Amino acid sequence: MTNIAHFNGRLMPLDEIRISPLDRGFIFGDGVYEVIPVYDGVMLHGREHFERLQRSMKEIQLAAPHTVDEWMRVTQELVAHHPGNVSVYIQVTRGVPPKRDHVMPKGLEPTVFMMVQPLVTPSKEAIENGVACVTHEDFRWTRCHIKSTSLLGNIMARQVSADAGATETILLRDGMLTEASSSNVFVVKGNVVAAPPQDHLILLGITYDLVTRLAKDGTVKLEIRPIAERELREADEIWLSSSTKEVLAVTKLDGKPVGSGKPGPVFKRMHALYQEYKKRLARAKAAA
Ligand code: PDD
Repeated sequence: MTNIAHFNGRLMPLDEIRISPLDRGFIFGDGVYEVIPVYDGVMLHGREHFERLQRSMKEIQLAAPHTVDEWMRVTQELVAHHPGNVSVYIQVTRGVPPKRDHVMPKGLEPTVFMMVQPLVTPSKEAIENGVACVTHEDFRWTRCHIKSTSLLGNIMARQVSADAGATETILLRDGMLTEASSSNVFVVKGNVVAAPPQDHLILLGITYDLVTRLAKDGTVKLEIRPIAERELREADEIWLSSSTKEVLAVTKLDGKPVGSGKPGPVFKRMHALYQEYKKRLARAKAAA
């Protein structure tokens, strides 16, 4: 089946899209991106993802080619070609200059590319048993709040866990928890859920935001504050969150069990709240 994608305002088959080798996305990784989960045509927090995309573009001095409303519309047009549960990848680069030069050229048309892939959420087995993670020093730059396509640091971090047969690499900067290579991280002690502050050292996750809101609505106590390595290692529960992982329990860290070694009670409650929230959203959209 033809995979329909979006390229600079046009819908076309993915394998027919041609991008110049001079595109600054290719040469410099000079671009930003988003990944949005879509459940049966319903985007989960599409607007929030596009607001973050606009913020990322502003941070790198790239003039936004669309308003949030326009982004929503073009994404719906693309998603209409892809039934079922999918993820939409949106990338905006600074465009194609006549020559390679580090200085940001003025007046370039940004390159807009969007594609759709099947949404791969955690397996039943991963939800029921949790996953293994390893830790590593966070050697990335200090602008991690920008969702940049320059992902070499994240890729190298992820490979550390891939080589160890683990699901994610949880990162520590100067002895403090930041995030994981492509997810945010929460720690639980007793009935208290803690997450690192949304500063420039982590990506401001849309799922992080949802999880913190659900935690506040639920009966758990939520603390947003710096988290030391010791707290991570002594946590009863550790969770990962991202648009594709949703909320996922970490049951092994650096080869040692986390808490009981099984997904804990606070995770189970959060996971149920998250699934319920998705269902409510789908029902509300269907009724609208
Ligand atoms: N990654 N931190 C990093 C470094 C990430 O790359 C991501 C998402 C997150 C979670 O953000 P959100 O909840 O908005 O998905 C945190 C996406 C899914 C990716 O790069 O594929």
